[in-house]
Amino acid sequence: MSDDERKPTAFAPIARDTAVHPGVAGLTVTDYEAARATFQWPGAPTGADGQTGFLNIANEALTRHAHGARPDHVALRALSDTRDTSTLSYGDLDDASDRFAKTLRAAGIGRGDVVFLMLSARPELHVCVFGALKVGAVVAPIFHGFGPEPVRQRVALGDGRVLVTTAATYRRKIIGMRRAFPRLEHVFLLDGEGPVPDPTVRLFEEALAEADSGPVMERTDRQSAALLHFTSGTTGVPKGVVHVHDAVRVHRWTAVSALDLHPDDTFWCTADPGWVTGTSYGVIAPLVVGCTTVVDDAALDAERWYRTIEEEAVTVWYTSPTALRMLMRAGPTAARQHDLRSLRLIASVGEPLNPDIVLWARRVLGLPVLDTWWQTETGGIMIASLPCLDVRPGSMGKPVPGIDAAILAPDPHAPDRVLEHDGEAVEAPSGQTGHLALRAGWPSMFRAYQGRPRRYAAAFVDDWYISGDLARVDDDGYYWFVGRVDDMIKSSGHLIGPFEVESALMEHPAVVDVGVIGTPDPIAGSVVKAFVTLADGYAPDDEMALGLIGFARTRLGAAIAPRRIEFDQHLPHTRSGKVLRRLLRQRDLGLPAGDVPTLEDP
Ligand code: WT7
Repeated sequence: MSDDERKPTAFAPIARDTAVHPGVAGLTVTDYEAARATFQWPGAPTGADGQTGFLNIANEALTRHAHGARPDHVALRALSDTRDTSTLSYGDLDDASDRFAKTLRAAGIGRGDVVFLMLSARPELHVCVFGALKVGAVVAPIFHGFGPEPVRQRVALGDGRVLVTTAATYRRKIIGMRRAFPRLEHVFLLDGEGPVPDPTVRLFEEALAEADSGPVMERTDRQSAALLHFTSGTTGVPKGVVHVHDAVRVHRWTAVSALDLHPDDTFWCTADPGWVTGTSYGVIAPLVVGCTTVVDDAALDAERWYRTIEEEAVTVWYTSPTALRMLMRAGPTAARQHDLRSLRLIASVGEPLNPDIVLWARRVLGLPVLDTWWQTETGGIMIASLPCLDVRPGSMGKPVPGIDAAILAPDPHAPDRVLEHDGEAVEAPSGQTGHLALRAGWPSMFRAYQGRPRRYAAAFVDDWYISGDLARVDDDGYYWFVGRVDDMIKSSGHLIGPFEVESALMEHPAVVDVGVIGTPDPIAGSVVKAFVTLADGYAPDDEMALGLIGFARTRLGAAIAPRRIEFDQHLPHTRSGKVLRRLLRQRDLGLPAGDVPTLEDP
């Protein structure tokens, strides 16, 4: 790595080659401080505001374009290994979702009813999302790979009346326990052939073909429930997170300010639609802006992904550190065989973005990766390495204009809580680690944990939403992720964030994956232990372990560096890519894993 690459502020965040990217105007936010100072939440793109009361995400993302200037503009380009590539214009998607809306209405589904979607990334997903929103129903996307029990648990928690999935998934996972879904009234199956197994079930294509055409648009308002996302995070029990139609203002604003989306962009969000990113940015945000979205449900594969970027001429790409690490592992040759010059912005979300990924991308893909931080609860991007800022590898960037973030001081007696003084949260001194919090009230703030009002209230202190993450902010206002409160390691009086240790170890050439936890120790309380996956050709022996410990010590100091190393070629990850430290802790103590429905390759 050259010195130049180590300099944190030495490079531009995005490509601005007007020869390769005609039609892309300049940045929407060019002066960060000025934008913050003058910021007011823009109304919805349709002009819908508190006065008319009417705001529906489907109208903002779809109908407005379909009935406006660009009905024939391509909304979706859907690739698939098993189905034909298809292209849907804004007009096509609007029509198809009207038909699904009519189908739902005829079935008596309307305001506030919950429609579960258990689908991979394919255009029918978009049809269902907008069809359901058009009747005022609440969309609950869940991961299509879930087994029967996690599906049952979520449908029960969300009180789902409708489920859309594929015939194959229904047969494999649900039919055998159909009686465990007593309140589920309607099931629609994709890719199926008649006859259907029971009277509550219909074939999706048939239902759409039989449906009346003509527009449907329920006049929901800002505060009407629109989306129900389930998060189990890395701690277990799923929670239903409720969002309202007003969230669309954050989807749009962050799409332009953080992802720099313009109507002529081709955008690809690789997140699975079962997670919040796959809905907020895989479905809604790009359409609100009016650009073309690539929809692909193929599994992560370097060759295929590079080909998709090249052939679809993807300009803005939103992905995850896990995916980028996979590409890194596949080596630079795979990337160099493809023309990736269409790309002008790469962004990432979901887990800490190690600095080495940012620098690798800049070297091999020609662009750094811009980090974005948010949560299921926040509904949209809150902190970002905004394109108008210099990139500082390892930092998450700064709060999006319109979002007030702060680092609140931990209570010295109970560091997992926020320190309060006369009922007011106390801010941590600059540079100190504390609770990452957001001032409550942004439009995409979650409005409830379904059925758990006390758990919801407990997420707020004073007028701050407490994220459960620890972070610090430097003198220039850049935020640095430290860890989940639950994952912090207390060792000999130090509070250590596992991410910092993981990042240092990732810089070692032999390390391809790592998870760091605290392991109980009679003297220190706990000591830092790293589970390490080695690259091919490296031996998992004592010499390697000592070498890694020494390597980490020179970077972190002896107090923070791991004391123990365990080699493990298969670290557990959530589907969204986070290393599951909870499972590592259980593994470390020799405990059974328990129910872990979101695991990849369990
Ligand atoms: C948690 C939220 C937001 C969409 C997908 C995840 C972690 C998220 C970052 C980032 C470090 C990150 C946090 C957060 N996280 N983005 N850029 N750097 N950590 O949504 O499942 O609700 O998880 O993901 O710990 O709290 P989620």
